[in-house]
Amino acid sequence: MSLYKIMFSPTGGTDKVAEPFVQAFDQEPKTIDLTDCTVDFHQISLAEEDTCIVAVPSFGGRVPEIAASRLEQIRANGAKAILIVAYGNRAYDDTLLELKTILRNSGFCCAAAVAAAAEHSIMHQYAKGRPNQNDLEELSQFAKQSCQRIEEGKIPENLDLPGSSPYREYHGVPIKPVTEKNCTKCGLCAKKCPVQAISLTNPFETDGKKCISCMRCVSICPVHARSINKIMAAIAASKLKKAAVHPRKMSCFLEYNSAV
Ligand SMILES: Cc1cc2nc3c(=O)[nH]c(=O)nc-3n(C[C@H](O)[C@H](O)[C@H](O)COP(=O)(O)O)c2cc1C
Ligand code: SF4
Ligand code: SF4
Repeated sequence: MSLYKIMFSPTGGTDKVAEPFVQAFDQEPKTIDLTDCTVDFHQISLAEEDTCIVAVPSFGGRVPEIAASRLEQIRANGAKAILIVAYGNRAYDDTLLELKTILRNSGFCCAAAVAAAAEHSIMHQYAKGRPNQNDLEELSQFAKQSCQRIEEGKIPENLDLPGSSPYREYHGVPIKPVTEKNCTKCGLCAKKCPVQAISLTNPFETDGKKCISCMRCVSICPVHARSINKIMAAIAASKLKKAAVHPRKMSCFLEYNSAV
């Protein structure tokens, strides 16, 4: 069997949550990067004996639309999936349920799932520093259990996950990064933007309609020349305050009914 890490992690928080799952399998994973615009996801075909760690962040309580559409193009052919959702301590709402539905439609068998807090990539004061050491230990324990179930072939027919359909409506956030004067025009942000919203020839041009506010350009610019409007971020943070202030515990889903 091959181990795959199928990941949409614009600023690295989702990747941190997924890492203990990669470690639980004694094997180097092949990475499928869902942020990579150069990949033809239609060409990806997996096998029944493969195991995939599929990790996405929650954006507005949903699977980011671009990650969903790229996952829908993959042919899984019965490959097993461990579903991972990272969220910034507000809520993950329908993200796990939506991810399961997408994966089942692509031919995956969903074996286990987890939702865990990771530092909010826009409002960093929420879930600051998470996943922390404690989170990583808990994730590691659950990862080992999930790995064992897969090795024993104990895959639930239909993993029961929270969420409801129709899914929570999400129309994006109005916080779009801009380029500051100290930009050196290295082009990195344009190359790495998951939706090609930044002009490859002029990094001062960002297509606000394409931009999904994922904050990757802000986090990777080597000279910190991409930034968001601090007043808008403060307004968004004050709206979120009640919902995001108490640290969330991770939610794990791994049930197997041998009668099924
Ligand atoms: C556009 C956007 C929308 C988000 N929506 C939510 C949300 O609805 N609930 C929540 O708890 N966190 C939300 N977050 C926080 C992210 O889920 C969290 O920071 C995640 O770790 C980001 O993943 P990454 O570090 O892999 O990019 C949002 C972040 C962004 C950028
Ligand atoms: S990564 Fe930073 S310096 Fe490079 S083009 Fe983008 S904004 Fe400019
Ligand atoms: S321009 Fe928008 S979509 Fe592209 S990396 Fe920056 S925040 Fe993400």
